[in-house]
Amino acid sequence: MSEVVNCDGSVTEKSANELVFVPRAELVKKTVARLSGGRRVFTVTDENVARLHPELLPERDVCVLKAGEDSKTFSSAENVCRKMLEAGITRGAIVVAVGGGVVGDLAGFVASVYMRGVEFINVPTTLLSQVDSSIGGKTGVNLDGYKNMLGAFKMPTSIVICPEVLSSLPEREWRCGMGELIKTAALEPELYAFVTQNINGLMEREPSAVEKAVKAAASFKKKITDDDPTEKGNRMILNLGHTVGHALEKCDSHKLSHGEYVMLGIELELYMTQNSDSDFRDSICALLKKAGTPELPRFAAEEVCFAAKSDKKNTDGKITLLGELGAGKVFVSKVTNSEFVERYKAAVKIFDERRHSAKGKRE
Ligand SMILES: NC(=O)c1ccc[n+]([C@@H]2O[C@H](COP(=O)([O-])OP(=O)(O)OC[C@H]3O[C@@H](n4cnc5c(N)ncnc54)[C@H](O)[C@@H]3O)[C@@H](O)[C@H]2O)c1
Repeated sequence: MSEVVNCDGSVTEKSANELVFVPRAELVKKTVARLSGGRRVFTVTDENVARLHPELLPERDVCVLKAGEDSKTFSSAENVCRKMLEAGITRGAIVVAVGGGVVGDLAGFVASVYMRGVEFINVPTTLLSQVDSSIGGKTGVNLDGYKNMLGAFKMPTSIVICPEVLSSLPEREWRCGMGELIKTAALEPELYAFVTQNINGLMEREPSAVEKAVKAAASFKKKITDDDPTEKGNRMILNLGHTVGHALEKCDSHKLSHGEYVMLGIELELYMTQNSDSDFRDSICALLKKAGTPELPRFAAEEVCFAAKSDKKNTDGKITLLGELGAGKVFVSKVTNSEFVERYKAAVKIFDERRHSAKGKRE
């Protein structure tokens, strides 16, 4: 909860990180206008969303970015700020992100620094952003290929989620979102049971299954991030698979999508953390496979280790890996560089054996 002191001295309580579910795309614009309470709005989106979903965007003050991870840079953030300045946007305005995680992370970062901070509303339009990236106030941009190296915690006041807009998502982006959904499900037993039972419906985008899973995953992340907004404790569990995922993303220069690296990262990190409960681990990996884990890009373990060393979660010169104990319990494992290299090599071997035996069974 944050507080706003009005001119007459009265205090309005204002909820932050509030989830607002909207059933139809045509209602999104109206909902954002209502939440903005008549204040001026500056909208950030990308070219695909602008083309496919003009109904989500207002008539004026819209900044359209090039789609994709390459837009998540300090210089793009600077350009957006410049456009805001040129448009006469002042401190009382609201920045609204309408797009996937790239738009949300960048616009949130802009909202955190423009004139020392303006209010922020997020309208996520990818599965990944609806179940994960739009919630909890992590914003930022990449630096020299390293993920989210510059950033700030900027809690959106509201997150407006409309699963209907997901129908236009390309197949590959759907799979990426499924990776983050399965990660969240691995942390929440009830959601895990639902995703396991409905994996085919989810992959076929059956509306009621999608709506239920999005609501449950978003609400779970909201609860975790409300309790630990700046990741001093339990919020860390949401990083399952992200140390290795981000390291691969850096080594591979973002050739795949973030969600695809996360899928690979979850599987490899589960193999790298030996305490993982093997039945549960196998069941997560089977779900990821159904969702379409991509081919593993090949890099020397030392190279992946070098990239992982810059991860923000690391402490005491050790690399942080997360393992899954089952039933939503995660443990943290701190490893030295040489342990990382050894475990990464062993994990890739298991990864390959599993792909090989699955191929053998099909032939
Ligand atoms: N802040 C956080 O807590 C957090 C958590 C996880 C991931 N992330 C970040 O999120 C980013 C990945 O997010 P993403 O996968 O949403 O990527 P993205 O924003 O690049 O979107 C993926 C693609 O889908 C397109 N798109 C968006 N909405 C669409 C729609 N409704 N229909 C058709 N196409 C649409 C986009 O134009 C883009 O081409 C990464 O930068 C990652 O680091 C942040």
